[in-house]
Amino acid sequence: MKERIYFDHSATSFPKPKAVADEMYRYLTEVGVNVNRGGYGSAYGAEEVLFDTREQIRNLFHGSNGRNVVFTPNITTSLNIVLKGLLKSGDHVLISGLEHNAVLRPLHQLEKAGVKWEVIECDPQGNLNQEDFLNKIRKETRMVVCTHASNVCGTLISIGEIGEICRKKGILFVVDSAATAGIIPIDMERDKIDILTFTGHKGLLGPQGTGGILFGEDMGQKTEPFISGGTGSMSDREDMPALLPDRFEAGTMNLPGIYGLHAALDYLEKNTITEIRERELGLTGYFLQKIEESRILRENLEIIGRKDLKQRIAVVSLYTEKMDMARIAYELDDKYGIEVRSGLHCAPLAHRTLHTYPYGTLRFSFGYKNTEKEIDIAVEALEEILEHGI
Ligand code: ALA
Repeated sequence: MKERIYFDHSATSFPKPKAVADEMYRYLTEVGVNVNRGGYGSAYGAEEVLFDTREQIRNLFHGSNGRNVVFTPNITTSLNIVLKGLLKSGDHVLISGLEHNAVLRPLHQLEKAGVKWEVIECDPQGNLNQEDFLNKIRKETRMVVCTHASNVCGTLISIGEIGEICRKKGILFVVDSAATAGIIPIDMERDKIDILTFTGHKGLLGPQGTGGILFGEDMGQKTEPFISGGTGSMSDREDMPALLPDRFEAGTMNLPGIYGLHAALDYLEKNTITEIRERELGLTGYFLQKIEESRILRENLEIIGRKDLKQRIAVVSLYTEKMDMARIAYELDDKYGIEVRSGLHCAPLAHRTLHTYPYGTLRFSFGYKNTEKEIDIAVEALEEILEHGI
């Protein structure tokens, strides 16, 4: 089999720590039970793992209480629960110009229910325009939804500054941490985040099918559940329990996934986020420098977003009109085993902001297990593809 070089960590991180797969296997072969449904020892044991995992998440993001950690199948579900459960006709919402369709599409649906929304401008490097933000706040502005970093160009948004303004003005602040959870420290208290949505399968290094919401104190009670059903608690009632996390966790949970996520969070506690971030940023800097050093790459590929390492994560988008970028991605994989993502990355709004709509970009996203050697191979591959293709 051709050796793979995986540069698509923004889509999902790979490989996961071995303990993640081991724990999922152990759950499936040795534990196997449901939680909140069985009155026996093994079910109580599984409940403990679930409880611990909530505590790990609360600790990592400095949340208010483990009970306010709700697990969902993915961050798209988390954002749908939050937006559809809180917003009403007449509410006004502000979002950044870098948002993903996980925010755009629910808001588009909510427009039919009378919710209004506007975009806060970001410049073509992805930097948010704070003046525009302040100018667009109205008395009906109920919520700001903001990604912590662009999944297209890697620019970080200073969520602490936005949180400060929202808190002063009594606006709810919702953060989409899909691109940064497990990579950049997030502190709900310091950054004044009312609701944090997260995914388990990217920077947190857990399996797909895991994600969640960390509600600030009382926020869960104010949110109408999007899905209702059995919770194994207060079963005599027809309405959903007011109590969190049950209020948002109807139906059997993804326990193999939670066991995997638990192991991934253990791994992150031992291999600190700071070390992982430094490693990934080092690789990003190396790649950016190699592009600058190569005449053919420098002259034919534009680096989208910030060219420095400040305020960014390990995501690099390249743009060219000289060759079809989907073809470059195909050749990288077909001839060299290099896996990247081209196109719009489910974020057409971000591409409009970055002036790369409708063609999109060729995106490289690095993980802590990637090496400089792999980047050298990718740079040479890009040179060969461009030499033959343009
Ligand atoms: N939104 C994910 C990405 O950036 C899947 O590829």
